Amino acid sequence: HRHLLGIEGLQPYEIETLLDLADQAVALSRQVEKKRNILRGRTQINLFFEASTRTQSSFELAGKRLGADVMNMSVASSSVKKGETLIDTAQTLNAMRPDILVVRHHAAGAVELLARKVGCSVINAGDGAHEHPTQALLDALTIRRNKGRISGLTVAICGDILHSRVARSNMLLLSALGARVRVVAPSTLLPAGIRDMGAEVHTSMKAGLKDADIVMMLRLQRERMDGSFVPSVREYFHYWGLDEEKLAYAAPDALVMHPGPMNRGVEIAPSVADGPRSLIGEQVEMGVAVRMAVLEALSAHLPQH
Ligand code: CP
Repeated sequence: HRHLLGIEGLQPYEIETLLDLADQAVALSRQVEKKRNILRGRTQINLFFEASTRTQSSFELAGKRLGADVMNMSVASSSVKKGETLIDTAQTLNAMRPDILVVRHHAAGAVELLARKVGCSVINAGDGAHEHPTQALLDALTIRRNKGRISGLTVAICGDILHSRVARSNMLLLSALGARVRVVAPSTLLPAGIRDMGAEVHTSMKAGLKDADIVMMLRLQRERMDGSFVPSVREYFHYWGLDEEKLAYAAPDALVMHPGPMNRGVEIAPSVADGPRSLIGEQVEMGVAVRMAVLEALSAHLPQH
């Protein structure tokens, strides 16, 4: 592949290969000397039209650890503010001959559209409610390292499924690797057609978390909701927020994940987020490793100028 636009289209063996490469990147990143030169002389531009802490900084670190020159395009102070379109912005940057563009955009499909217009490799860092492939890969790596496998595990993805590209990419990836995937949400936060997407659907935490090996909480994305339906935080936490009481429905050795950013006290209790069963900090570490793995895998297909 020249681009990574989504989990859709990846074969299970390709996902496993990326996870194996990421395991090596974890080992490298834990050394004092963290650099390799696989991308030496290459230029990576991070182009984020939406806010990010984890994804943007880990793509920057990943590129630098592999020796690339990394430039973070500041969209907030760019000519996008003067009305320049997505495609014109991308073609302007493309004329500077980058090798890799890492793109986040609020519109589903925007990153794929952009990939058709530029001559370099493109990585989707999240497009609307469509896909966030490197998030799903880092979640899978975190699960595999803690549980020793993915196949046969029951993973409950809970909360705002409707607006979540993380849920979509995780459903595709985890079911491709043989996990049993459940989505657990109020019916108002489930997308149309969810029952055809291969996951079990539950509309109560008690049933959805029963015997789950992994409980993956999602952020309530209030900024993507129109004003007519924004649940009250207190009510949402009561029914859908993960606290110790609800976590007790899951398997005794269940582990808790959240892609971040978290709304503490909305979808997850602080005591669970910071508790002994939380993998949230480890997910961030795996994020750098997975992005190194993706950059390494794409490096074989980079255009030769
Ligand atoms: N999980 C995730 O994508 O976080 P950021 O929005 O901070 O990049």
